[in-house]
Amino acid sequence: MRITIFGTGYVGLVTGTCLADVGHDVICVDVDTDKIARLRDGEVTLYEPGLESMVKRNLASGRLRFTTDPAEGVAFATLQFIAVGTPPDEDGSADLQYVLAVAETIGRHMQEYKVVVDKSTVPVGTADRVHSTVADALAARGETIDFDVCANPEFLKEGAAIEDFTSGARIVVGTDAERVKELMRECYAPYSRLHDKLMFMDVRSAELTKYAANAMLATKISFMNEMANLAERLGADVEQVRVGIGSDPRIGYQFIYPGCGYGGSCFPKDVQALARSAAEVDYLAELLNAVEAVNRRQKQNLFQKLFLAFDGDLEGKTIALWGLAFKPDTDDIRDAPSRTLMEAVWKAGGRVQAFDPQAMKECRRVYGERDDLILVADRIQAVKGADALVICTEWKEFRTVDFEWLKANLSMPVIVDGRNLFDPRAVKRAGLRYFAVGRGDSL
Ligand code: UGA
Repeated sequence: MRITIFGTGYVGLVTGTCLADVGHDVICVDVDTDKIARLRDGEVTLYEPGLESMVKRNLASGRLRFTTDPAEGVAFATLQFIAVGTPPDEDGSADLQYVLAVAETIGRHMQEYKVVVDKSTVPVGTADRVHSTVADALAARGETIDFDVCANPEFLKEGAAIEDFTSGARIVVGTDAERVKELMRECYAPYSRLHDKLMFMDVRSAELTKYAANAMLATKISFMNEMANLAERLGADVEQVRVGIGSDPRIGYQFIYPGCGYGGSCFPKDVQALARSAAEVDYLAELLNAVEAVNRRQKQNLFQKLFLAFDGDLEGKTIALWGLAFKPDTDDIRDAPSRTLMEAVWKAGGRVQAFDPQAMKECRRVYGERDDLILVADRIQAVKGADALVICTEWKEFRTVDFEWLKANLSMPVIVDGRNLFDPRAVKRAGLRYFAVGRGDSL
């Protein structure tokens, strides 16, 4: 089957590559000429385990192609996936200009029946706007060619995107058209071999499903962060509470890890966008707003703990920072808790000496060269000459630590751990002060 994907960002590239890998003929279209040139050479500019080798394999087989020519993309296939970005507008609502620009392009070039598939995370009602944009573009040409629009949200986690695409729990397709159902069944047949993962529903429900899933997961995290903050004040250990509640299958163990706040390109943006959609239909989404507020506060927590440990004086201090990415196995620092921490340290007159296994290039790109940001080659270098250590990302390699060595190398014996990586007793035995999340300072 032939498939066209507009957008070679995270979602578009993973989708296109995975679909090529199961035998479809895929063409990916992007306006970024530099990116397309690199992709044609098999160079993947984002970090996702396994993706680059998969791109190379499918380029070599000829099943995966890249182009900057939208007309070529539109002509190539009946299925036209839109997987371009939906960045937040100033008011938090999703900016649809890129999605609608692709819709317009499809309407401008199409010569026969097409199915426009919304893969981007878009507010409820976007499929209708895509539909009218394509129709307007056709009308401008004086054409009346048949087409359908369906919603097919993605549920990929960065760092596990290939696994999520190939073995995800479900494939949601929002459409009422039998013709679309047949085409989407054919597209996703390779992933439904063991059991039928396809869930057909109406378009608006599919669009809301995506937001509801992310909002539910974000709610679990904010809830646990609230419990952690309470545990700190009530003298309890949230890690024991986590195990205690997770054992109830109605609650489950997943996404109840307290930490320094959720980040990334999805949860913060999607929770805000859904709250914004609610406001547009005159509904005050109190829970969503609270989830967002708790998260904002949680991201400030690390700095507050650090600030207290230094008696409010971070002027001239060097803070070792382990982890910049919003979570392990990605180089993504969008809305990462590390950024809130760094920016607060800088504001207080301190400097940051940071290491991340993947995200340092991205960090340099975002913040540029500056005296108060020193990026070093490994976690040991980050600690050398530093006053205290803060941990923002739970990369595997941060989990084992020689606390005696740390104690000897930090001028202040302080670890602020945003991911609860260590046994507090072991840290304290070495004579370090340990500020974890929801575990009290005295465990
Ligand atoms: C998330 C969803 O998990 C995907 O299902 C969804 O498809 C994707 O957004 C999207 O909308 O595209 P992702 O942003 O890659 O995926 O990252 P997650 O693994 O969900 O983590 C998000 C944040 O929550 C991270 O900052 C992580 O550290 C934090 N988190 C996660 C916690 O603080 N505690 C937890 O228990 C779990």
